[in-house]
Amino acid sequence: MAEELGAALSVRLSARRSLAEGGEGWLANSIGNETQNPARPWFRKLNPTYRKSIAFFPKMNQVDYLRISSIDRCNFRCQYCMPSGEEIEYMSQQQWLSDEELLLLLKEVFIPVGFTRFRLTGGEPLLRPKMVELVGAIASFPETQDLSMTTNGFLLAKLAQPLYDAGLRRINISLDSLDPETFDRIIGNRGRSRWQQVWDGIQAAHRVGFDPLKLNVVVIPGVNDREILDLAALTIDKQWHVRFIEFMPIGNSQLFGDKGWVSSAELREQIGEAFGLTTSSVRGNGPADVFQIPGAKGTLGFISQMSECFCDRCNRMRLSADGWLRPCLLNETGQIDLKTLLRTGVDPAELRAKVRQLLALKPEINFKQRDSGTAGTYARTMSQIGG
Ligand code: GTP
Ligand code: 5AD
Ligand code: SF4
Repeated sequence: MAEELGAALSVRLSARRSLAEGGEGWLANSIGNETQNPARPWFRKLNPTYRKSIAFFPKMNQVDYLRISSIDRCNFRCQYCMPSGEEIEYMSQQQWLSDEELLLLLKEVFIPVGFTRFRLTGGEPLLRPKMVELVGAIASFPETQDLSMTTNGFLLAKLAQPLYDAGLRRINISLDSLDPETFDRIIGNRGRSRWQQVWDGIQAAHRVGFDPLKLNVVVIPGVNDREILDLAALTIDKQWHVRFIEFMPIGNSQLFGDKGWVSSAELREQIGEAFGLTTSSVRGNGPADVFQIPGAKGTLGFISQMSECFCDRCNRMRLSADGWLRPCLLNETGQIDLKTLLRTGVDPAELRAKVRQLLALKPEINFKQRDSGTAGTYARTMSQIGG
């Protein structure tokens, strides 16, 4: 398995390396992004011939999407997300960015440097006190173009309407199984089954009108891979987006070690044989490749970070609940402790400069990660990063 992954990564790497070596790829890319905003003062300082020439460099996506982990706690313990057997040390609430700090960072730092799309993640974001108010405050920034949330859905039945009313429009909900027993095993539940309550949360989100409504399925061989067709079939009658995610060895490498992952290509073959499968005209704004069962109302997404590297399409950074800005899910290089800087009175202008520097370095950080592959040791679990 490791060899397969290595081979797949090295093919993509050599294609990408020519970009990185040939044309100062990362620098060109980061400048390329800025060409979309020629009003930036530093852009105007560039020599006009150079300004014109950089328009011809291949562009990375503009990095304008911030995933905000609002809390590190979770009411589930999904096998693929948390280390098995170990007690997790949660942050104290004082360690989190407060609502005021988070809103100040968005307003004074992230929005001015070009972020306009925000996703609230966790742990489980609905465990954070006053989440509806926080959603309302972020939605009310005139610059916010997109506000979404990734949740496990357990507390959603009651909160779907207030969240929608506060301005949330897009929601992604984890649903790894349609079988309550398998579901409970995956989420590490030993008490009363939680499947029904999550399903009720999904139905509530549907009724309220979240569009798109995405369901995330992390495929674990031998655990839920036999349900692929049933999960895919949900899209036939409902305008939902079911996304199959290749299991990544972050969070619980022990589980990964035994079972590994199933490639999106294999899943597509299975689904294609059963129902037919075509590429969809619907394009996501994230890492998913979107397909559709012919005639279905919804779509099928495949997130293939193990078999395919989509770093060159990356449009996002991550902010942890305790205020660390992380340029890449899979690479911890260059993180900035924004909370400490803020609490020690550093001026927002200085924070903006630091974030800009990191934005300029991000493509290089992404490329570096390809060299070392996706399997690494991480200081934070998936639940602490927010996926
Ligand atoms: P939208 O496309 O905006 O709906 O969001 P998304 O699919 O990126 O968000 P979601 O939180 O639902 O994440 C789905 C899966 O994609 C999770 O397993 C994430 O870990 C994975 N994912 C999201 N962003 C990245 C990324 O930058 N790199 C990698 N490798 N995986 C990512
Ligand atoms: N591999 C792939 N996806 C994961 N998620 C959590 N842990 C992993 C992992 N190890 C996904 C969850 C959730 C999203 C935020 O991240 O399905 O929907
Ligand atoms: Fe909690 Fe989400 Fe991780 Fe499951 S995947 S343990 S719901 S943070």
